Amino acid sequence: MLLRRFNRAARRLPFFLLLTAAAPFIFEVLIHQWRYQVPRPATKLDPPFFTSCQEPDVTAERENAVFVMLARNRERYRAKKTIESIETHFNKWFEYPIMFLNDEPWDPRFVAELNETARGRGIFEVIPKEQWTFPDWLDQDSAKQSIEEQGKAGTVHAGQEGYHHMCRFYSGKFYQLDVLKKYKWYWRLEPDVDFSCAITYDPFVQMAKHKKVYGYTIALWEVGKSCPGLFHATSDWKESRGVPSSSLWSAMIEASWVPFPFRRFLSWMPHRDNYGDAWSLCHFWSNFEIADMDFFRSQAYQDYFNYLDKTGGFYKERWGDAAVHSLAIAMLAGPQQVHHFEDIGYRHAKFHQCPANAPGGQLPGSSSLAGNDPWSPEIAGGVGCRCECNGEETYNYQTYCLDKLKQPNTPNTGWFS
Ligand SMILES: *[C@@H]1O[C@H](CO)[C@@H](O)[C@H](O)[C@H]1NC(C)=O
Repeated sequence: MLLRRFNRAARRLPFFLLLTAAAPFIFEVLIHQWRYQVPRPATKLDPPFFTSCQEPDVTAERENAVFVMLARNRERYRAKKTIESIETHFNKWFEYPIMFLNDEPWDPRFVAELNETARGRGIFEVIPKEQWTFPDWLDQDSAKQSIEEQGKAGTVHAGQEGYHHMCRFYSGKFYQLDVLKKYKWYWRLEPDVDFSCAITYDPFVQMAKHKKVYGYTIALWEVGKSCPGLFHATSDWKESRGVPSSSLWSAMIEASWVPFPFRRFLSWMPHRDNYGDAWSLCHFWSNFEIADMDFFRSQAYQDYFNYLDKTGGFYKERWGDAAVHSLAIAMLAGPQQVHHFEDIGYRHAKFHQCPANAPGGQLPGSSSLAGNDPWSPEIAGGVGCRCECNGEETYNYQTYCLDKLKQPNTPNTGWFS
């Protein structure tokens, strides 16, 4: 009897020993996960500036702002499409200047046609050569070879030298352009973009009023192959400068489930920091941006950009300006300084966001809005003004990244929110 009981206990012994040995590790991992929990506020901290149509206040003071579009001469038709759309949905009321940038001299036909589409408010500038080339300390031959290899490996756009220059330009050099120095705010445009709702208030004024520095419409995953070393370099910079982690930073991290000290062995893997934790690849898509250039001109941001630049990653890999901007915003700006323009209908490539129209908020009799109809049905919870889409595709193409990045500003309403 006694022997049998002893036997049974002995058989269970390895299990208990294992559990005892594993307990500190399990405990450590849970604490580690808990450290990356994103605190959720009691109320929504970043609501839309307006949730229905406004009578455009064309007499109100404007901000010191400019639209910016990088385009090539051969993109005339696609550039025109974007400008027609932003004029119809916003700029016919607010009349901000539109600056076109090119790395080559402008074709007079582009200038004439686009200036007309921009109702005479077009500015046409050429980017100085030294801001659109390899940095002089980088070995150009090996950079070119690496670009060729990335192209062969099939990473999107990574085989095009110009694309690398563009990403580097938009990451840091852009904000130093002489022709932009007199402006504080910019709204970035691309050729082949559609705006699908009327924007009847001035986003620059609202950004300034609410102390925002960065506004976006779409958030999604970065192409992992384009930037395996970006997050490591970023977190190295963050640590070396003693930058504390904001809750937005935590929202971008996927904390490792491997216990200490073993997770450190993961640090050589793509998108991981020195400690083995990973960036989720979620970021703000930068082809739409409304932002404060003073943030990107700041010493801290420029120091971060120069640090990245020195690693050569804009050429040895294909670091995108969207990821660079997003990681910088997460490090150097608080989540309360970021605004999601969920009321703006926006499409570029296959990605889009199109809100439903706000019930009772469409100002049917307004004469200034007379050109912005017909509009799609009004749906409960809609925040849009005269949006032309069907109202069912209310949110981004994929919601995971958007929800992740909005976490620090959104109350917890359920298990999955
Ligand atoms: C654009 O049009 C306006 C108004 O017609 C004109 O004053 C301006 O000089 C034009 N700009 C360019 C670059 O052609």
